[in-house]
Amino acid sequence: MTSTKLSFSHGMLRRLATLALVSGVALSATAAQNIKIGVFLPMSGDQSSFGDETMSGVKMAVEEINAGKDFKIELFTQDEKSNPTDSANAVKKLINVDKVDVVVGTVASSNTNAAAPIAQAAKVPLMSPTSTNVKVTDVGEYVSRICFIDDFQGSAMAKFALKPKAEGGLGAKTAVLVIDSSSEYSKGLSAAFREVFTKNGGKIDNDGEIFYVQKDRDFSSLLTKIKRKKPDVVFAPGYYTEIGNMIRQAHTFGITAKFLGGDGWSAPQLFTLAGEKAIVGHYFSDHFSHEDTDPAVQDFVKRYRAKYGKDAPGMAALGYDSIRVVIDAAKRAGKVERTALMKAINSTKGFKGVTGVITLDAKRNANKPLVILETQKDRATFKTRVNP
Ligand code: PHE
Repeated sequence: MTSTKLSFSHGMLRRLATLALVSGVALSATAAQNIKIGVFLPMSGDQSSFGDETMSGVKMAVEEINAGKDFKIELFTQDEKSNPTDSANAVKKLINVDKVDVVVGTVASSNTNAAAPIAQAAKVPLMSPTSTNVKVTDVGEYVSRICFIDDFQGSAMAKFALKPKAEGGLGAKTAVLVIDSSSEYSKGLSAAFREVFTKNGGKIDNDGEIFYVQKDRDFSSLLTKIKRKKPDVVFAPGYYTEIGNMIRQAHTFGITAKFLGGDGWSAPQLFTLAGEKAIVGHYFSDHFSHEDTDPAVQDFVKRYRAKYGKDAPGMAALGYDSIRVVIDAAKRAGKVERTALMKAINSTKGFKGVTGVITLDAKRNANKPLVILETQKDRATFKTRVNP
């Protein structure tokens, strides 16, 4: 092979620069750095609302960053089809075929847990925007997240349930737990709720844990038990497809207990599946409220509305923040190299996201406030904020 050395005279360079200007291309002193980001999300299956919403925020962040001069993000996406096996395959493909520098995903904790060991073994940083199960980051230093964890979410909902009505809580004394046994998220979150609820004087009977699995659509036997037990609240930390159906059926059973849940409820389909008669007056915790008056949040909400024609959901905000945290880390790392990126991500401190200030702790989790939302006929409204 022969190599040709290119040399330009000053005159040539000037002419080139003029040409570039005329054609609308700016020549900058330092070229943008390329970074390959692989995103795996549930774009089909029972959690596809989660995938759509997270992706909308991811895309918005990528467009904004690519319009700037520092980084050019090349985005690779994979559908994890709402299940653990396809999640693992998606991450293998992103790492081995697309050779991405960093992986972002996914939503359901069981799916992230299935994929995270692959990224850890390949030494490719993986950041989850939304997986809250405590175990997610246990797999090692290459795995991080920018959201709070379920110990916090469960404890906040237990305290809210117990708090006297006069103080803005539900004044509950008894609870039943409805657990999706196919979801690590649901199991972990109900354990966290149980611990704080019972420690603080709440009562959960020995037979007060009732199980179902994803894809169940008929909840009559579960609801018969709840009707008999007459608890003040039902803590049901599942995903919107099952919970929407469950709450609709609970209404026809004449169950009047308040249902409480976590971020897994956060989808427009919760309201359409349950129907407006059944869904009013329940509560769930979430990462973000578009009603937050913080100017940075309102600025994001406005831009999101201009782009997508609707209010920004929590997952869009998390998707948006996850990409911006990765790029912030790449800036601090000074190079696009996997180990340097991992170290920079893990030392994220005081990053001002639209979902709150993001600081990763020693376990690569973010300690951030959550919001409790109240379900109305067709949407959820802000009830209160809980700080860690
Ligand atoms: N936190 C849920 C999980 O870990 C996923 C989720 C996040 C769902 C945000 C809705 C909103 O499984």
